[in-house]
This record gives sequence, C-alpha cells and structure tokens, in this order.
Amino acid sequence: MNTSFSPLIFPDYESLSRHTASELFVRISRAMEQKKRFVVGMATGNSPIGTYKHLIELFKEFKGDLSEFYTVNLDEYYPMDRSSKDSYYQYMKELFWAPLAEINPSFNGERQGIILNGSASDASAEALRYETVIQELGGIDVQLLGIGTNGHIGFNEPGQPGDSRTGLVKLAEETIQVNKAHFGGDADKVPVEALSMGIGTIMDAREIILIASGESKAPILSTMMKLTEPTDDIPASFLLKHPKVYYFIDEAAAKNVKME
Ligand code: F6R
Repeated sequence: MNTSFSPLIFPDYESLSRHTASELFVRISRAMEQKKRFVVGMATGNSPIGTYKHLIELFKEFKGDLSEFYTVNLDEYYPMDRSSKDSYYQYMKELFWAPLAEINPSFNGERQGIILNGSASDASAEALRYETVIQELGGIDVQLLGIGTNGHIGFNEPGQPGDSRTGLVKLAEETIQVNKAHFGGDADKVPVEALSMGIGTIMDAREIILIASGESKAPILSTMMKLTEPTDDIPASFLLKHPKVYYFIDEAAAKNVKME
C-alpha cells in the first residue's frame, strides 16, 4: 500500500511527457499483442497534450490490432455540445482519437473513444450510464490524471467525498479562473458545472498515473508531500490510499517538493 507521495521528477515537460507516453504504450501494446482488452482513462487540459503527442508517435511503429483498446475520459463540461470547440470531446478527437485512427484504422474513435455526453438532458442518467459502460468494459486498467491547483482530480473539487461516483459537479471558483484561459479569458464563458467520474470511480482504476508540470502546480504538490492521510480538502490526497499510483512531475512543479 502506497501511503506517501513520492514523485518521479523529470527535468522538463518534454521528458515527462515522453516517459508517460511510453509507460502507457508498453501496457497498451502488450495487451493488444495478447489479444486482451485494455482501457485507459484519459484526462484533458494542458498536462497530457505532450503525452498524447508522443503516444501517437509510438503508435506509428505499432502495426497490431487496436480494436480492443478503449479510452474513457474523466470528465466533460455540462452543458456542452460535443460539436463545440470548447468540448473535451473535440479535444480528444483532435489530439488523440482522429490521429490514432488515421495511422491505425483498427482504432475506431467513435466506438472506442468514450466520453460523457455534455448535452444529455438527464445528467444523473448519463452519469449512471457512464458507470455501467466502464463496468461493462471490465474497468479501467490505467487512469491518467492531471491535478488542479486546488488539488482537484477530474472535476472533483475540494469537499467531494472519497467514495463519490460519476455525477454532476460544480466547478470551484479557482478552477473557473484557471480554465477561463481556454474561453478567451472570460470567466463568464466557463460552464459552472461538469459531469465527472467520481473519486471512487477513479480509485477503482487498477493503476493510476498522475502528471503535473509547471510552477503553478508546485504549491499543491508541496502540500501533498506533507500529507500522510487523505483529506476531503484535497481530492488528490485520496490517491495516497491507492495501491498502484505513480506521480510523474517536472522540475518546475517539484520546486517546493524538493525543498522539503
Ligand atoms: C481534465 C481534468 C482536470 C485537469 C486539471 C489540470 O480532464 O479532469 O482535473 O487534469 O485541471 O489541468 P491542466 O493540465 O490544464 O493543468
């Protein structure tokens, strides 16, 4: 049982991304060669962009069948039309599903790229459906996570209980302020709610990789460093109880961590 936060520190974002991509690639390609299903939980935001770029590069060398490779995303704004450029659906389509399908047509993004429906009329029904989809796939093999400056994972903001399941959640003011950069700097344009996997849903993943890059993440990582027990105030702290979690961070994010 992992009860401490002991990150692997990379010199920069590029090496962190390359390493994360290769960790994912090894697992996915091994499962595909063994004709086993493999499900990766995907994150959006800035942190995984480099990972997806390198993962696509690695897949260029892989000629095997990817029809049992599935991706399930952590979250989607609500309400959000999937055709909107601001949707996480479009982010995934552009950065991962479409480029992968182009180099290996055995990956069908429409079927194998799974994400919450931000325009579902009944948010609770959509959340329940998503939990069922994950269960029917056999669960998540490895979940990729970023971390919010307030310690959120997915859109589970401080205060969310550690056993929460997929559902409709409210974005914290801090998250709206950080994410407004993706909405032309206008906080009023950021949806105030989202559908997100719960902390319990994330914790059910067999392995978890959390990545963090840049100085803005240094304070929350230094707080994580001091914790020995999970606290509702820091959603990422529940990961301390996960048996197989890896933290990959770069020097800038590790600034305060190394000072301890
Ligand atoms: C994204 C997500 C969020 C982000 C977090 C960090 O799907 O669920 O928890 O991982 O907000 O975002 P970036 O990577 O943009 O700093």
